[in-house]
This record gives sequence, C-alpha cells and structure tokens, in this order.
Amino acid sequence: MLALHSTLKRNRLCRNSGLAIAIAALALPTLASAETVNVSAARMIDVVTGKVIANPVITIVDGRITRIVSAAPGSMVFPASEKVIALTGKTLLPGLIDMHVHLTGLAEIGGYQTYKYTDSFWSVVSVPNAKLTLDAGFTSVRDVGSTGFQDVGLKQAIDGGWVPGPRITPATWAIGATGGHCDNNDLPPSFDKSTPPSTINSPDEGRAKVRWLHKYGAKVIKICATGGVFSSGDSVGGQQLSLEEMKAIADEAHMLGLKVAAHAHGDEGIRTAILAGIDTIEHASLASEETLKLAAARKTWFSMDIYDDDCILEAGTSNGTEQASLDKEKEIGLKQRQTFQRGVKLGVPMIFGSDASICRHGINARQFGKMVEWGMTPLQAIQAATVHAAKALGQEGQVGTIAVGAYGDLVAIDGDPLANVKLLEHPSAVIKGGVLVMETK
Ligand code: ARG
Repeated sequence: MLALHSTLKRNRLCRNSGLAIAIAALALPTLASAETVNVSAARMIDVVTGKVIANPVITIVDGRITRIVSAAPGSMVFPASEKVIALTGKTLLPGLIDMHVHLTGLAEIGGYQTYKYTDSFWSVVSVPNAKLTLDAGFTSVRDVGSTGFQDVGLKQAIDGGWVPGPRITPATWAIGATGGHCDNNDLPPSFDKSTPPSTINSPDEGRAKVRWLHKYGAKVIKICATGGVFSSGDSVGGQQLSLEEMKAIADEAHMLGLKVAAHAHGDEGIRTAILAGIDTIEHASLASEETLKLAAARKTWFSMDIYDDDCILEAGTSNGTEQASLDKEKEIGLKQRQTFQRGVKLGVPMIFGSDASICRHGINARQFGKMVEWGMTPLQAIQAATVHAAKALGQEGQVGTIAVGAYGDLVAIDGDPLANVKLLEHPSAVIKGGVLVMETK
C-alpha cells in the first residue's frame, strides 16, 4: 500500500483505481485533527436487503462513517496519516445491538444470594461484563433495569473512555407495582431495601417516576407489566399494572422523548401494554394469537429472550435461584419459543433481546441460533439485532447499519452468517467508533 501525504487528497480513496466503485459518499469537511480509519474486508452484508457487497472499504472519520466504497484488494492507496484496518477474508456486519441486558447482574449469583453483595459490587462487576459484551460483537445495548443508577454510571465511564464497553441506553430502576416483579417481595418490611424507589401505585405516581428517572439519566423507561420468573410471590403471567398506569407512564415518557419497554409474560398484560402505547414488549411468553395480531398491526416490537430457558434449566438452583422460579420457568420456557415461532409467522416485528445476566455475559449471540431454529431466516435474526433494534431504540441511522453518517461500529465474521447464523457467536474482530476493540489472532 502506497502512502500519500497530501492532506487535500486524504479522502480520495479510489485514486489510481479504475476498479473502485463508489457506492456511497458524503463530502464531510475533514478537520486537520480528524482521525481517519479505513476498514477493508472481503465482504459486507447490507442488513436491510441481505445483499452481499464484495471488497468493501469503509472510511470512518472521528468515529462516524463518511464513505463506503467497493474496491479490489490492493487497488487503493491511503495517506500515511490515515489508519488502515485490513480484515482480510472476513465478512463485515454492523455492530450488533442487544435490546435487553442487565450489565450489573451476574448469571452466577441469583435468588437471595444477590442480597449478600453491596451496591458497589454490582458496579464493579459491570465493568468486565461490559467488555465481554463488546468483545462478543455487541457495540450497543439497552440496559433495562439496574438498581442505584449503576447503568448510568457505567455509561458515563464508557462514554468518557475510562473503561471499554458498548454504547448503553440505560433504563436505571424499572418501574413496577408494590409486590410486583420489580419489587423485592421476599424480604420483611424491616429490611431497608425491601421497596425499590421505582415502585408506583397510581397513574400519577407513574408519571412522577418517569420524570425522576429521566432527571437522573434514564434514556429508556422499563416497566414490569406482569409477574415474572425471578420474582417471588407472584404468578409469572399475572398483570400487575393497570391500563391507566401503563398509559400514564407511556405518555409521560413519550413526551420526554423516551421509549418504554414492558416486561410482560402473560397475555392480558401484553395486550394492555400494547394498547397503552408501550414500544417494546419483553419476554412476551404467553401472547395469544389475537395479541400477536394486535402487535403486528400496531407495530409493537417484541424482544423475546428465547435462549434463556437453556441457561436457567442448566444452572438449576446452583446459583441461588429459588425452586419456585425454576417451576415458573418450566411453565413458560417452551411456550415462549412456540409463541416466538407464531409471532414470526404473523409478522410481529422482532428485536434481539437476550436478558444477559440470565445466561452469562458474552454469550448473547447464542440466541441467534435459537431464533433461526424457531422460524426466522438468518437475515431476519440479524435484522432483529441491527436495523430493527436501532429503530426500536430511536437510533435509526446512527447504529445497526453500515451507512454514511452512522457510528463506525462493525463486527467481522469468519465465513457467511447468512448461511450459518451461529458464526455470529465467534466474531474475529469488533470495531467501535472506528477503534479496533477486539481482534482474534
Ligand atoms: N427476567 C425474566 C423473568 O424473571 C426472565 C425470564 C427468562 N425465561 C425465559 N424463558 N425467557 O421473568
């Protein structure tokens, strides 16, 4: 590769090459101090169409993609001032997005065991969790529930460059009813943390809580619309917030420009959440055919963690999980996968959400294989973790796409994930904002 020193010509990648075809270009002014990185690979998947583009060269200036060209290997020269990342033989995709993680949780510690640890413990372990997630190819995550604003702190540390990790859209505390899935029901009233500060019991309290969470850094609102597997004292599917409460929360959040994610397993709770204008339904295990059709018509996203049943049953009570939770999991595990399959057929818009911390952080991509096993094409599964997730985040065009103007977030795969989606479990390289953050040797 020839080194050219002309600052004036620094962005003209295709010079000397009759073979180079510009497929997208934007003439952004390049500042003298701009950091320019050129990433080349054998193939790139256009995740919108599924088309494969040969020999992509992606230019990233100060973290954002400024140009994408297709050029025969060796046909391009770059100025010495620009960095080059040659991912020879690899397939590029946009950095992946996981819409449901808990970076401040651990698969290894569950049930009552969690109360043995201080708040700061969870912040400390979130740091390696963030790195594991990033190295697994997930350059963006939505963290849908953490106590003590730990996810906001982690985001600040990552965005400030103090620690490596994905771009985080944090929910902080999840809003729920007294005695519900987001409450701590297994403790006596004397225990000083028995009621989380995000507990509400009326529409007005819901509105106030949204404002409070927004004030302290929430970029998405999470609610617990029904019972759950890992909460004691409730039924997994029982509705826990009223239509009025969910509507008040959704309206207030939307007024503030925030989207709302609702944990919901039971059909009634899912349907009520859809009618309340909630943006994404988490888990959605027991949605009826009628509710699935409603979700498809209303374009309400479903984020279904269909790999988790394997991890939960495999761990059993070894991590502190209560037998009652395991019993609830057995009620919904298989049904959730069947609901997913029906939902895919009925055209429910799906996003990728793993609920990482149930399975250990870093194996998020194992869910892709399950999504394909239960009815998706590999492209649909990839779209759920890229373009569709970006839309559901409200970050369309910023993440989940390889396009001019988007963040330079890329994942490199050895082989063709459209033929074998499981290849996504082992990325060869991960680039975030034009910086190579992981490369296998
Ligand atoms: N956080 C969820 C809950 O406690 C996890 C459900 C996991 N199980 C499953 N089959 N996806 O309800």
